[in-house]
Amino acid sequence: MSGEDGDVVRRDRFSGGPARAFLSSMDHDERLFDADLAVDRAHVVMLAEQGIVDEGSAGAILDALIDVEATDYDALDGEDVHAAIETAVIERVGESGGRMHTARSRNDEVATCIRYRLREELLDAIDATLVLREALVEAAREHVETVMAGYTHRQAAQPTTVAHFLCSYARALERDTDRLLAAYDRTDRSPLGAAAFAGTPFDVDRERTADLLGFDSVLRNSMDAVSTRDFMIETASALSTLSVSLSGLATDLIEFAADEYVEIDDDYASTSSIMPQKKNPDTLELVRAASGSANAGLNGLLTTLKGLPRAYNRDLQEATPHVWTAVDAVTPATEVAAGAVATAAWNEDALAAAAGEGFATATGVADLLAANGVPFRTAHAILARPAQRAADGTSGETAGLDPAASVASRNSVGGPAPEAVAAALDEAGAGIETDEERRDERRDRLDAAAAALEREVGRYR
Ligand code: ARG
Repeated sequence: MSGEDGDVVRRDRFSGGPARAFLSSMDHDERLFDADLAVDRAHVVMLAEQGIVDEGSAGAILDALIDVEATDYDALDGEDVHAAIETAVIERVGESGGRMHTARSRNDEVATCIRYRLREELLDAIDATLVLREALVEAAREHVETVMAGYTHRQAAQPTTVAHFLCSYARALERDTDRLLAAYDRTDRSPLGAAAFAGTPFDVDRERTADLLGFDSVLRNSMDAVSTRDFMIETASALSTLSVSLSGLATDLIEFAADEYVEIDDDYASTSSIMPQKKNPDTLELVRAASGSANAGLNGLLTTLKGLPRAYNRDLQEATPHVWTAVDAVTPATEVAAGAVATAAWNEDALAAAAGEGFATATGVADLLAANGVPFRTAHAILARPAQRAADGTSGETAGLDPAASVASRNSVGGPAPEAVAAALDEAGAGIETDEERRDERRDRLDAAAAALEREVGRYR
């Protein structure tokens, strides 16, 4: 699909040759197809409103775009989706279809298309983080009193609760949502009208095309507008960071499942093709692996973009797929993690037994001594001996210390005591609602813009 001929942008000059397929981005551009159609529509409407293109030509071009939209992507022919759509329009309209590309370049066009599509991808990623946060908070509400061992260095350290553990991830995810929203807001700016990089002599209305495409604002420097891909780095970075949160959650669940502290639902488990007794947490392993792709995407972007001079260089074409790599890995992983958390069954007895093992309450006893006047360092030294004997298995006398009482005593802000966690869960729930509103505002703006664009297009047809 690199197009052998027929590309009106290239015509007969530079149009063939052995590097044609190498130059083409058609294989990656399907993702920008709808975006390009919207960008074309907004641009043509603006050109007509500004009197740059006559209404008759605008109407014919807008009609042709409807027809192009209905055709199979694979039937398009061109160096990239932008050239291919323009070619298809000219095939339908005739020479005056070439007026569509007045006062723009593929440079501002492609940058606008990427941002247009990436906003959707970001909203989907944001959705997924909200669903996961909801699943974590809901599961936590069920387990405010479910005592478990908390770990440092992979060793049982102090008793905590399943709710406290789950809420720790809900809080991390809250920041992930926030980073994605910030990336959205910086993606939500229009490069259209920057032309190749140096503006245009035509009296374009950049605010108008930005509005018609639902962008929040216009990028103010035309050279910056076509050059920058920082919004892609920022998006991939936010996704990478999210993937790190997911990978930790996945590892915890995988290990807890191996210890039978939690059972992963059959829907999120897999079987062995040879060992009939096995139930494997494959989905969570794949969730954990999403980081590899996310980080590859981020690294691909950073490496491709570093050192590029102003203004447009074809390297930019090669940068774009890296951000899709990150998106495609992390959003589904987030959705699957949410399902796995929502359906997991926590084994309260096994967790409680483990919480009491290995003298995990030693810190609580040291705290008790310190609260009664013994300097904490001295208390720590006193407890070291029974802790050692418990570790050696030469004394079982530590079992009398109650993990639940130990948890209940730690009611500092953010601590695991049930009333502290209950308050934290209310906050976390309110945070989800706030972020759902932030997401809805953005989605509503996109929907309203799409409807307005359709109305405007209708005037010419
Ligand atoms: N497909 C190209 C891209 O993704 C379009 C821009 C081509 N512009 C140019 N000046 N050669 O960047």
